[in-house]
Amino acid sequence: MKFQGQHILSIDQLERESVERIIQVADDMTPYATRVKCCTVLDGAILANLFFEPSTRTRISFGTAFNLLGGHVRETVGMTTSSLSKGESLYDTARVTANYADAIAMRHPDVGSVAEFARGSNVPVINGGDGPNEHPTQALLDLYTIYNELETLGKDKGTIKIAMIGDLKNGRTVHSLTRLLCLFPNIQFTFISPQALAMPDKILDACDNAGLSYNISEDFHYGLKGQDVIYLTRVQEERFTTQEEANLYRGKYCLNQKLYEQHCDKNTVIMHPLPRDSRPEANELSDDMNNNPNLAIFRQTHYGVKVRMALFALVLGVEDKLTQFEKPMNWYSPRHQS
Ligand code: CP
Repeated sequence: MKFQGQHILSIDQLERESVERIIQVADDMTPYATRVKCCTVLDGAILANLFFEPSTRTRISFGTAFNLLGGHVRETVGMTTSSLSKGESLYDTARVTANYADAIAMRHPDVGSVAEFARGSNVPVINGGDGPNEHPTQALLDLYTIYNELETLGKDKGTIKIAMIGDLKNGRTVHSLTRLLCLFPNIQFTFISPQALAMPDKILDACDNAGLSYNISEDFHYGLKGQDVIYLTRVQEERFTTQEEANLYRGKYCLNQKLYEQHCDKNTVIMHPLPRDSRPEANELSDDMNNNPNLAIFRQTHYGVKVRMALFALVLGVEDKLTQFEKPMNWYSPRHQS
């Protein structure tokens, strides 16, 4: 894929070589993401960060990634503060915003909305999540995390056993991550969910078409055994028609340190796209695991900045100019102590 000027809307756009290029460029971002050096290659460029649905990580890390490359960020947060609430179409919003910005990151609750928006934009649009459909940048950072975690553990990155557990019907991150892993051979999936929240058929079809095997079960303990990676998700209660319906599934699968020690293989990597639902009635990933060295959830958020920096560099065509625009970093950062 030629990245410059392209929208990043779906994992379906990417082939294996493009993913490997994103990973390479993400590696190049290490000195800037860890504040060893500054990079101003996007000095003067503007990102419009349009988030019409709640977010902490994706919104802030898109903005941070753009800032770390020297660019500026303009944001709009929430539907009611935007002129979409006055009936403006996504197309018109895009035509207008593209006049102000050099790149646009967007999240919206409706499936297909970011692609619809991108029709009106002549600057690159990156999908930050469109309803329960896709979250391609999360999948890329998840893959980058898996590779880094397995490498740190001295494990083979060429064969990966991964269990995805939780609300697999409504969780867009598991849809995008499964599609992304389908680009690689020797992936073995285990999908654990209540039957009503099972992985959609179109994602299972993608596994079939890729010739990858998968096990499907409702049995949580079965899903924990024999994996390299366990990827937990919360019940996406905002996608349910009623709170009562969501309540049927909250708290069904809860991983804690005791269960990890009882059922997981040594050094199983634990991932979660976050936010985890820490309310006692949910608690799919207990905070008693916070000191488990194989809990990768906070490293995922660091890798997310690097991957988003890589995507901005690629779509704006500056990936080979980073070192020309380096400067020393002058301020204190605790990142330098390790
Ligand atoms: N992982 C993720 O998308 O988190 P936010 O909803 O906080 O952006």
